[in-house]
Amino acid sequence: MRSSYCGQLNKTFVDQDVVLCGWVHRRRDHGGVIFLDVRDRDGIAQVVYDPDTVESFAIAEGVRNEFVIRVKGRVRLRPDGTINDDMPTGKIEVLGKELEVLNAANTPPMQLDDHAEVGEDVRLRFRYIDLRRPEMAERLRFRSKVTNTVRNFMDENGFLDIETPLLTKATPEGARDFLVPSRTHPNRFFALPQSPQLFKQILMAAGMDRYYQIAKCFRDEDLRADRQPEFTQIDVETSFMDEEQIMTIMEEMISHVFRSHLDTELGEFPRMTHAEAMTRYGSDKPDLRIDLELVDIADLMKEVDFKVFSVPANDSESRVVALRVPKGNEISRKAIDSYTEFVSIYGAKGLAWVKVNDLGAGSEGLQSPILKFMPEEVINQLMQNVQAETGDIIFFGAGKVKIVNEAIGALRVKVAEDLGQVKVGWAPLWVIDFPMFEKASDGSLTSLHHPFTAPACDAEELAKDPLNSLSRAYDMVLNGTELGGGSIRINKPEMQQQVFKVLGIGKQEAEEKFGFLLGALSYGCPPHGGIAFGLDRLIMLMTNATSIRDVIAFPKTQSAACPLTDAPGAVSTKQLRELNIRLREPAKGPAAE
Ligand code: AMO
Ligand code: AMP
Repeated sequence: MRSSYCGQLNKTFVDQDVVLCGWVHRRRDHGGVIFLDVRDRDGIAQVVYDPDTVESFAIAEGVRNEFVIRVKGRVRLRPDGTINDDMPTGKIEVLGKELEVLNAANTPPMQLDDHAEVGEDVRLRFRYIDLRRPEMAERLRFRSKVTNTVRNFMDENGFLDIETPLLTKATPEGARDFLVPSRTHPNRFFALPQSPQLFKQILMAAGMDRYYQIAKCFRDEDLRADRQPEFTQIDVETSFMDEEQIMTIMEEMISHVFRSHLDTELGEFPRMTHAEAMTRYGSDKPDLRIDLELVDIADLMKEVDFKVFSVPANDSESRVVALRVPKGNEISRKAIDSYTEFVSIYGAKGLAWVKVNDLGAGSEGLQSPILKFMPEEVINQLMQNVQAETGDIIFFGAGKVKIVNEAIGALRVKVAEDLGQVKVGWAPLWVIDFPMFEKASDGSLTSLHHPFTAPACDAEELAKDPLNSLSRAYDMVLNGTELGGGSIRINKPEMQQQVFKVLGIGKQEAEEKFGFLLGALSYGCPPHGGIAFGLDRLIMLMTNATSIRDVIAFPKTQSAACPLTDAPGAVSTKQLRELNIRLREPAKGPAAE
């Protein structure tokens, strides 16, 4: 139907006849001539109809935005003074000779250029219009190119693309499951996989040696800008490789993607232990584009006359930290109040601060609501410990380790963003040496990664001191986002049983839930390990989008619904009966008779 894409036209086409197909992006009537901006996946070209071509001119008068048209015409240089350097095709235009309307369109609910004003709900409901925006189309094209590069890289390195089932048994990754009732097995449910974790391990037991899959995963968890209930992983598993080898090849894969599509060298990825990341940045996914660091000051605060600091300073489960922010002493009281509110989201009870107006002037040069509680030597030592300089503000967090880390870790990022102290560029790293377990609020232990992650110690040590046992897990972090996570796995049933035991999963429960895995580990399972990257997050970072919803064709809203299809929907009583399900309260909606 067409000879060229609109966006491909340039000077080399001058004097050629072309046929374009696309949407009317904009129609302008310039008294006597009609300009149509015609848009397709590749870009926009300007087509001009003048009254000499009587028939097509009349049609051009009748077309409206988003009509689908077919244009025949001849490319010419734009006259001087009408060249548009902002447009890739801005040097040429097409003198229209014929015009055919392939389909009319109702007045669109949103103009493409007004997407920002209409709100995301409208954009998602009319996603087919939203995706016509060049920016959105470009992101989906970019995503397609990246997955293609990933596939080629994996294929060249001997990884087999193997599909794993979506109707399966629960695969725990720390979220709730999406369940699917079985018609043929009344009262039983499939779970949609939170990841292909168990199947990829079983593929290693099956001798596949190297597996990858671009896999859909399903997690019923609270949504955020970088989380969707249904998302995509680049999922990888290998046999007979240790963590160093896996990290190296995955680093090469990600570097190759950045080199191929952003023309950027990521360089070497530094490695940082989990403990160091938490101590210095209060986060297991530190953004290393930001220089600010947390400094422990508990030693200094043990005896001060300020309980807010001295109590946690003497408690082994608490932390007292300072965060020095250069050029921060101009932050207003109002802004400090808003930061205090910000840290309270994480449970912090307050946000003490010191402004260093003149370091040379002793306590005269310091401004703060808390220094009155501290002797001069403590203040001097504090200034030394944080390497204070005139012009700084120093923030303080005191309390339980988890709260201080989360609150001051998040404040570090927020303040740096507000003050323009985030460096431009890419800061990748590997976080290693994670603990095996963490304590939940009810005192029980949960896996920091998943229960199939191998410990760095033997089963005996693990049983003796689970909370201090490290795992063989690794996370790849990029600019403060956890891009991927993986580990060496447990490949012996005894060790797997031991981990289940620590997690409070008894023998019988383990057999019911994971008997098939324990079976696979018992019939010759090689040492193996792997990783999974969040593809949506990768594309979000690479395209500089603010939400993963902008790099997914049909994402869900914050409340996990799809405004386009109106899913989740009600189902008919007949369907429910077949599934042996009776609702406690009938759902509202057209399908529920
Ligand atoms: P994990 O749970 O860390 O590991 O997930 C791997 C990566 O997937 C991405 N991700 C998400 N992206 C969007 N929305 C979500 N709700 C979401 N949840 C996770 C993140 C994350 O780093 N089976 C293990 C991997 C392994 O051990 O090999 C797993 O799924 O970028
Ligand atoms: P207060 O004595 O509670 O008025 O607190 C004095 C100062 O310490 C105020 O600036 C509070 O914001 C701050 N503050 C209170 N609790 C904490 C805390 N847990 N961590 C850091 N600063 C705090």
